[in-house]
Amino acid sequence: MSQIVYIIFGVSGSGKTTIGEALANDLKIPFHDADDFHPEANIAKMSQGIALNDTDRAPWLATLADQIQQWRQSSGAVLACSALKTAYRRTLESIPSTYIKWIFLDGSFELIAHRMQSRKEHFFKKELLASQFEVLEKPKNGIIIPIDQTVEELISKIKIALHTQKSQMGLVGLGVMGKSIAKNLLSKKHRLSVYNRHLEGKEEDVALKFVAEQLDQTRILGFDDLSSFVTSIQQPRTILLMVNSGKPTDFVIEAILPFLSEGDCLIDGGNSHYKKTIERTDYLATKNIHFLGAGISGGEEGALKGPSIMPSGDKKAYNLSGKFLEDIAAKDQNNNPCCTYLGPKGSGHFVKMIHNGIEYAEMQLLAEIYHLLRFHTKKTPNEISELFNLWGKNGKDSYLLEITAAILTKKEGNHYLIDRILDKAGQKGTGGWSTVSALELGKPLSTISEAVMARNLSALKSERSLAASKYQSEKTVIQIEEKELLERLENAFAITSIINHSIGFDLISEASNTYNWNLNLSEIARIWTNGCIIRSTLMETISSLFSMDNTSSLLLIPEIITIVKSGLPDLQKTVSIAVEAGCPVPTLSSAVNYLLGYISEQSSANIIQAQRDYFGAHTYQRTDKPVTEYFHTNWKNN
Ligand code: 6PG
Repeated sequence: MSQIVYIIFGVSGSGKTTIGEALANDLKIPFHDADDFHPEANIAKMSQGIALNDTDRAPWLATLADQIQQWRQSSGAVLACSALKTAYRRTLESIPSTYIKWIFLDGSFELIAHRMQSRKEHFFKKELLASQFEVLEKPKNGIIIPIDQTVEELISKIKIALHTQKSQMGLVGLGVMGKSIAKNLLSKKHRLSVYNRHLEGKEEDVALKFVAEQLDQTRILGFDDLSSFVTSIQQPRTILLMVNSGKPTDFVIEAILPFLSEGDCLIDGGNSHYKKTIERTDYLATKNIHFLGAGISGGEEGALKGPSIMPSGDKKAYNLSGKFLEDIAAKDQNNNPCCTYLGPKGSGHFVKMIHNGIEYAEMQLLAEIYHLLRFHTKKTPNEISELFNLWGKNGKDSYLLEITAAILTKKEGNHYLIDRILDKAGQKGTGGWSTVSALELGKPLSTISEAVMARNLSALKSERSLAASKYQSEKTVIQIEEKELLERLENAFAITSIINHSIGFDLISEASNTYNWNLNLSEIARIWTNGCIIRSTLMETISSLFSMDNTSSLLLIPEIITIVKSGLPDLQKTVSIAVEAGCPVPTLSSAVNYLLGYISEQSSANIIQAQRDYFGAHTYQRTDKPVTEYFHTNWKNN
C-alpha cells in the first residue's frame, strides 16, 4: 500500500506541530516531529544553544528521507519539519513527488513574533526568529497556507488544497459577473473552485489574485489550468460558466469537456440565445454531460447580493445542481428564492431573453418621459428625479425607476452628468433576439421591438444631427397645464408599463405552447419580483394575479382591465401632446397603438386581405361564411 506523506513546514512558531497534529488526527494517520530524529551530536549542540550548520543537518535530513520512504510504504504520515531551504526540501524528496505533499505555513515575522510573545510558557528569542526568516527560502508553488486563521479554518483550507475535501462546485470566468457570483457563493459557505483562462499580458493569474483578495480563503481554490480545476471539484460536478455568450461559451465547453466525467453538469449563466442552449444541451447529452441554461439577471450588484436566476434543462440535473443557484438567488417577499426550475432545455434562456426585452422597453419608456420633460417642458434633471421618486412612492416603484431617479441627480462639478452622456444607445442583442422570436412565433411585440428600434435610431447620431439641421423647425409649446401634464404622464407611464409586461408574458406563453415547455407564468413573475433588473411593485401584482389565473393574457384580467381603462385617456393624451410638440415617444405610442388594436373588434385587416387577394389571389375568409372556407374574387370584373 502506498500512502501520502504530508510535510508541514515553516519557521519555528508558525504552528507546524499544532497544525500537523490536527491534520494527522483528521486524516487518521501518524504524526511525527522532525526534531525527534536528530542524531545525539545535534541534540547536544542544540542543548548548548549552538546553532546547527548544514553539515550537522545532513545526517538528520538523510534519516528523515529514509523515514519518509518507510511511512509511504505503511499508512502515510504527517511530518512537521522546518525545511527552510530549498536544498533541505530536495533532500527529503526521497519518494516520487506524487506521494509527498508540501504544506508551507506562511506568516509574517510580526505575526509570529506577536504570537510567540503572547504564549506565556514560550521563551521567545527575537534574534532566533529573525535568523530563521533570514534562512527561509519561501516556496514558489505548492500549497501555501496563510496562518492568520483558526486551526479549524487552516485544516479545512489544507484539505481543500489537498483535494481530500473537494470543492462543492466550480465557476469558470472571473469577469465582473463571475467574480460577484463567486463571492456570493463563498458568502453562502460553499467550497468553491474558480478558473480563469491565462492570456499572456492580459489575463494573468486572475484566479489566484482573486483568491488572494478574499478575506476567507479557506473555501476557495483558484486555477488557470482546466485539468486541475476540474479535478478539485467533487463528483458529480456542478460547474457554472460565467463567460460571454456565443463563441466564448462554445470554446470553454470544448476545452473543459475532456476533463469531465459522466453525469457532471455544466450551467451556462450567460445571456445565451435559447436555440444555442438547446443545441448545446443535445450535444452534451451525447457525451453524457448535463447542461442547464440559466439566465441570470441583476447586474454586478445583483450577482453579488442575490440575482434572479432562470434555469432550465434536465430536471434531474437541476435536482443535483439547482441548490447552489437557489442559495445565491435573491429572496422574494416570502423568503423563497428568486430561482426555480422553469422547464425543458432552452426555456430558461428564452425567459431571460424576454426579461431583457421587457427591460429594453421599460428603459426606453423612462427615457421618453425624461426627454419630454427635459427638452419640452424644460424641467431640470433634479426636478425629473423628484418626480420619479414621487411616482415610486405612489405605488409605481421599480428598480429602473429608482436608478433613473438617482442617475438624474448625479453631478460632475456644477453639471448634471446626464447632460454630458452621448445620446447613442448600445445593445448586446437580447432585445433584438426577442423581436426576431416574436416574428418567428407570429406574435406582436410592439413596445419591445419599438424600444430596440429606438436604440438603433439613436445610434445614427451623425445622420440625426444632419437631419436635425435640415428639418429645423420652431418647437411647438406644450398647451397644457403642468399639473395636468404630470398627472397624465404618471398614468401613461403606469399603463404603458402594464401593456409592455403583458406583451412580454404573452410571448412567453406562446413559446411555451409552441415548444411544449409548460411554463408557469406566475412562477416567472415571482422570480422577477426581486434580484432582477425589472423588479417592481407591478411585478408583485402580476405574480399574485397570475397565481390566480395563470393562462390569461394580463390585459384580460379584471383588475388590470380596470386600471388600463381608467389610464387609457391619459396615455392617448400624452402621446398626442408629445407628438404635437415634436417629441418622439415610440414606446408610449406603440403601447397605445397596441392597446387600441388589441381592444378593436373590427380591425383594418379586411383591407389587407382584400389587397392580398387582389394582387396575389391569396384568398380571404368571409364574415358571413364559416372560417374554414376561403374565397377568391376577380376584383377587376364589376
Ligand atoms: C440583467 C441585464 C443584463 C445586461 C443586459 C444589457 O438582466 O442583468 O439584462 O443581462 O445588462 O444584457 O443588455 P444590453 O447591452 O443589450 O442593453
